[in-house]
Amino acid sequence: MKITSFPEYEQAYKKSVEQPEQFWKEIADNFLWRKKWDKILNWNFTEPKIEWFKGAKLNITENCLDRHLETMGDKPAIIWEPNDPTEDHRVLTYKQLYDKVCQFANVLKNNGAKKGDRICIYMPMVPELAIAVLACARLGAIHSVVFGGFSAQSIADRILDAECNIVITTDGGVRGDKKIPMKTVIDDALVRCPSVKKVIVLTHTRTPVSMIKGRDVWWEDEIKKVETQGNKEFIAEEMDAEDMLFILYTSGSTGKPKGVVHTCGGYMVYAGYTFTNAFQYEPGEVYFCTADIGWITGHSYIVYGPLSQGATTVMFEGVPTWPDAGRFWDIVDKYKVNIFYTAPTAIRSLMSFGDEPLKGKDLSSLTKLGSVGEPLNEEAWHWFDERIGKKKCPIVDTWWQTETGGFMISPIANVTPLKPGYATLPLPGVQPILVDEKGEEILGNGVSGNLCIKFPWPGMLRTTYGDHERCRTTYFATYKDLYFTGDGCLRDEDGYYRITGRVDDVLNVSGHRIGTAEVENAINMHSSVVESAVVGYPHDIKGQGVYAFVVCPNQHGDQELARKDIMMTVSRIIGAIAKPDKIQFVTGLPKTRSGKIMRRILRKIAEGDTSNLGDISTLLDPGVVEDIKAGAL
Ligand code: WTA
Repeated sequence: MKITSFPEYEQAYKKSVEQPEQFWKEIADNFLWRKKWDKILNWNFTEPKIEWFKGAKLNITENCLDRHLETMGDKPAIIWEPNDPTEDHRVLTYKQLYDKVCQFANVLKNNGAKKGDRICIYMPMVPELAIAVLACARLGAIHSVVFGGFSAQSIADRILDAECNIVITTDGGVRGDKKIPMKTVIDDALVRCPSVKKVIVLTHTRTPVSMIKGRDVWWEDEIKKVETQGNKEFIAEEMDAEDMLFILYTSGSTGKPKGVVHTCGGYMVYAGYTFTNAFQYEPGEVYFCTADIGWITGHSYIVYGPLSQGATTVMFEGVPTWPDAGRFWDIVDKYKVNIFYTAPTAIRSLMSFGDEPLKGKDLSSLTKLGSVGEPLNEEAWHWFDERIGKKKCPIVDTWWQTETGGFMISPIANVTPLKPGYATLPLPGVQPILVDEKGEEILGNGVSGNLCIKFPWPGMLRTTYGDHERCRTTYFATYKDLYFTGDGCLRDEDGYYRITGRVDDVLNVSGHRIGTAEVENAINMHSSVVESAVVGYPHDIKGQGVYAFVVCPNQHGDQELARKDIMMTVSRIIGAIAKPDKIQFVTGLPKTRSGKIMRRILRKIAEGDTSNLGDISTLLDPGVVEDIKAGAL
């Protein structure tokens, strides 16, 4: 299933359009199925209804673990680098990982978990996070991983939405010099979540925690019980290709995050196929993705994609700048990493430290580089290429989304000719089209429009958990018979794709998706705030920064203190990742007569471009614009 030359790419692409079922059948044949499908594809984008490999039976963990045991049992599956570089790293071979997954699946079973249950995982980047994810999949429970940076309130919302009955967490987490009291955050969240009957707590930081009788159990004690029972194996649950594998919450243009649902068969095929192809993974190579498993990148390209392909995947607990800005390069040097996959925000941040952190670091093992999460600007592209890749490593700029499950538009390393700033060409199986506001297709090259996909691919989302209508209206109703990505895109003279950013009210802050409505809701929770409007503005490191215009009429005292209070509120309600970078107090927001906030004007002001604000005559009170301009930060 590996494409190794450009003519092969062109041929595969053609086949994927002309005979999609045959194309995907041949790829799916590379995986382990207990029973093969009755039908490759059933679909319509109207409901939407998408079924891949219907009737097939499998367990994704048999593909990620069991099938490698004979040939690669003693090969490293996961290499774990701790936050503190003076502490010991850990290596788990495929056999060891298999044993631990079986063990923990037994723990879950002993604690009442069964197929179809939803299990919330809130853990730092430790190997047990990957073990927990895989154990859920082995047992047929649906995992919902919540990123460690989210607040108790956000976790509770997600647990309630999915009606989770088990939570897996740790006593605490560490990132750089910061400690995160994970169990305490979970305790706060669970006050609102009666559906949760068990909390399994891994000892990690030895932070003191309170354990509630009957509800909370220690990971280590539960493992001991399994050992006493003598249960070494756990026979994987047989799943239908279309059974749910996981839910992952992501922000949209409304205030409430949605639970994107991926299913077992199609997701597995897609994650494996895209991993192997884009990175041209060769057996024995060491692969390091710097993402967190709390995001889709970690799901698809730390856990499922690499493991399904028998790869060695590096998991890193810490942050790129601690103890210093050479940390990634130390890791590359230490484990002789061949493939390094990171985010533009990290590249830009490390670039700002200059060459010093690179001194004495041997990066000669690197052969391929990758980037994800937001557009990789040309300056950062060149720095990455020259300083890290030494001009000998292709950079795969992978465009995709939580909803797509895997790479969509991306170079294939050493196959696709590159162009800085471009995600280049669609992978075989992906049919992008550009449309105008009315949904008319924009044909030809050298054009820009809204990016849609016109044909299903196996890794696409199937629904949003508990609310199929929301899935339809968000993705399939904007333009008839198309999946709408929410991104704007340029197709240049050569037919190459360049993603220009979101066209909806979603911000991309350091590669994290944040809905402006969500941040506004959080700010409005503050007792002295009447209303607010949040927009993005260009930020050198983060890509986009969060700019909040806040109406706070009784705010007479210390503005700095009031700002801090509002920041604190956002941290409490959503999490520190959504904290505004700038808060401007205003007397009113620019609204039309019908009460709609004219964000276009606020965006311009936030960008510092007030020379031409366009037509403001339809505003209820054009006067507020002058005030806002005068107070701009
Ligand atoms: C953006 C992350 C430009 C885009 C995998 C998309 C990108 C959103 C790229 C999805 C890229 C992701 N170039 N923009 N290579 N990759 N994006 O769901 O706006 O966290 O819609 O998935 O990130 O973010 P998500």
